[in-house]
Amino acid sequence: MSTTLASIIGTATPRVDGPLKTTGAAEYAADFKFERIAYAVPVTATIASGRIRSLDTTAAEQLPGVLLILHHGNIGPLYRTVPGDDNATNSEVRSAFEDEIVRHWGQYVALAVADTFEQATAAAAAVKVEYENSQADLRASLDNFSGKRKSVSKRGDPDAAFAAAPVKIDATYITPVETHNPIELHASVVMWDGEHVTLYETSQGVVNHRVVMAQILGIPVENVRVVTRFLGSGFGGKLFPWPHAAMAAVAARKLDRPVKLSLTRRMMFSNVGYRPRTEQHIKLGATKEGKLLALRHDYLNVTSQLDDFDEGCGEATPYLYSVANLEVTSGLVHRHVGAPMYMRGPGAVPGLYALEAGMNELADELNMDPLQLRLLNDADKDESNKNIPFSSRHLRECYEVGAKNFGWEKRTAGIGSMRRDGKILGWGLAGASWVALRLPCTATVEFCANGRLCVRCGTQDIGTGTYTIFAQVLHEKTGVPLDRIDVILGDSGLPDGPMSGGSMVTGSVLNAIAAGAEAAIKRLQQVAASTDGSPFKDAAAENISFTAGRLHNKDEPATDGAHFADILHMAKLNGIRAEGKTVPTWEDPKAKGVSLHSFGAQFVEVEWEPEIARLRVSRVVTVIDGGRIINPKAAANQISGAVVMGVGMGLLEETVYDERTGQPINGSMADYLMATCADSPEIDVTFLNYPDPAMGEYGARGVGEIGLAGVAPAITAAVYHATGVRVRELPVRIEDLLKSKIVEA
Ligand code: MOS
Repeated sequence: MSTTLASIIGTATPRVDGPLKTTGAAEYAADFKFERIAYAVPVTATIASGRIRSLDTTAAEQLPGVLLILHHGNIGPLYRTVPGDDNATNSEVRSAFEDEIVRHWGQYVALAVADTFEQATAAAAAVKVEYENSQADLRASLDNFSGKRKSVSKRGDPDAAFAAAPVKIDATYITPVETHNPIELHASVVMWDGEHVTLYETSQGVVNHRVVMAQILGIPVENVRVVTRFLGSGFGGKLFPWPHAAMAAVAARKLDRPVKLSLTRRMMFSNVGYRPRTEQHIKLGATKEGKLLALRHDYLNVTSQLDDFDEGCGEATPYLYSVANLEVTSGLVHRHVGAPMYMRGPGAVPGLYALEAGMNELADELNMDPLQLRLLNDADKDESNKNIPFSSRHLRECYEVGAKNFGWEKRTAGIGSMRRDGKILGWGLAGASWVALRLPCTATVEFCANGRLCVRCGTQDIGTGTYTIFAQVLHEKTGVPLDRIDVILGDSGLPDGPMSGGSMVTGSVLNAIAAGAEAAIKRLQQVAASTDGSPFKDAAAENISFTAGRLHNKDEPATDGAHFADILHMAKLNGIRAEGKTVPTWEDPKAKGVSLHSFGAQFVEVEWEPEIARLRVSRVVTVIDGGRIINPKAAANQISGAVVMGVGMGLLEETVYDERTGQPINGSMADYLMATCADSPEIDVTFLNYPDPAMGEYGARGVGEIGLAGVAPAITAAVYHATGVRVRELPVRIEDLLKSKIVEA
């Protein structure tokens, strides 16, 4: 694929916000400081289930600098968000301190506020809480599930087809609780000005956050402003507000002082979501030649006492393969744990782990190359949805390109049959997919009299490069250099923009920006034609061209024209602004009748040293069909980062709860294992770069999540290939590897 014109779209572009971040000038939520700011430190429950018998704040209140101890008894009214209101999605249904019942370890029971952080910390420690303990359900295993299963997708008769199938796989796959660990801790800095409140937040969605806070605090939405200029990532944990934001807001209102509340890393492990544990039963039936006949995917995930959080493991299952008989069901298991929350590639990532691990086992059962099995069963239409065509599906090419880049044809199938430098090699692969959507949003584009060009949108940059690609689009549309373009995001007062979630910002907002830029240029031309003294006075708009920031007669070079700033000066205008809107995919005739997804293929190599039971992912080749790539540099960063996260998912990450108290026992950066530089393989990223015609002007689908899908099942396949050990519960542990019958390389 190549585009005909040299364009900044598709050109590796360094982050426009890079200097701000590397010099420390970028202001993250907790960096905001105000005069008379007070510090808030939560008190958290030390039991998993029960009620607060007594909460004694006397000692705490007498400590120096203490301003307020907030708790159920004095917080005053807080409300829940309206169920089903898509503009006000909250993380937990219960509001802060709503009752005196404790439903998970770490739940907030009080908030100490003081002049300094140290005083608040001391006060929080001095709050005496007594509990009435009741039996907590903390079993990790979900196998006692007795609730209702919901059918998520169904076609044909999967049970009959499975029973009759000559070759079968029937296995359960387990993924553990994983905790979001963005470097930036959740934080709220809140300041009231009369009836108006501004919240500096760690939010992946300032517009939604604003509506949620208005509903919870019971104040008009126009009185709330939410600001998130920069994010130190979030991975989904910061999509929706958590109770600490309302706690800080109430404290600030009561004290009439700004309040800062920053979570500790330990609180991050119990109070702001996690990827829930899943147990997924996969049944695959196939002919002796490997053609799929039946597919069942029955999954369970854990959730909290009050929140019906469905992980959505069946996201990809219904459309990935061609199979006549299929059903996906879901079930929720309530435990005494905090509310789960979406984590990078929610549903699809754990779901594809199970499905693709099953497919790899089926390939082994058939004595077939797992690549051939994929190609044989590839779907060319969406069989889960009236057989509608895919908008742009090149999964087959992902596999073929990946196989070539990886050298897959050199694979020998026997367990432990491949060696290099005294180590055993294991090779595995898996497919990946992720949904694509274009959300409705608005962006304004403004030509300013100071010669700068400005775009505004109420979305935010989670760290993926949103600032940069917005600037790229404006540069492409206007020719104004990047260093004269201001991208203004992260403020709920801006035109409504989407959450930084679901990999949807790129595909959604670029259309609005492009439309806004075109409309702003048109206005500039109109002004040029109607301004006295303008060289274009009374010219027909279609004869005024716009090139590289300059207006000029269509038949003359841009250098003979006038800079837009000069026209604005002549017209005595400070700026000209126009709005662009993105039509959502569900309202676009070009996108309505098609199935929109990104696809990918992951090829993994592990090195296995049986003598010391050391296993390392040494090489990953990934090929992504993510629509048109706007900034290959930022996009490849996303895929590489996701692959590293996949190594963590395959080999390291797991949040372990103490089954007596519900405390996450590895709830710190020291104890929670995640992939670091030393664990990172050599990563080879290729984008197919086919624009998706259903995604609008640029055909981009977004690539924040797809790179994680498929990594873990490719790793477990490679582990089996190297060691002969079949691991069906993540992460792969040394204990699993020690079961290998291979004791030396
Ligand atoms: Mo993503 S889990 O939608 O932030």
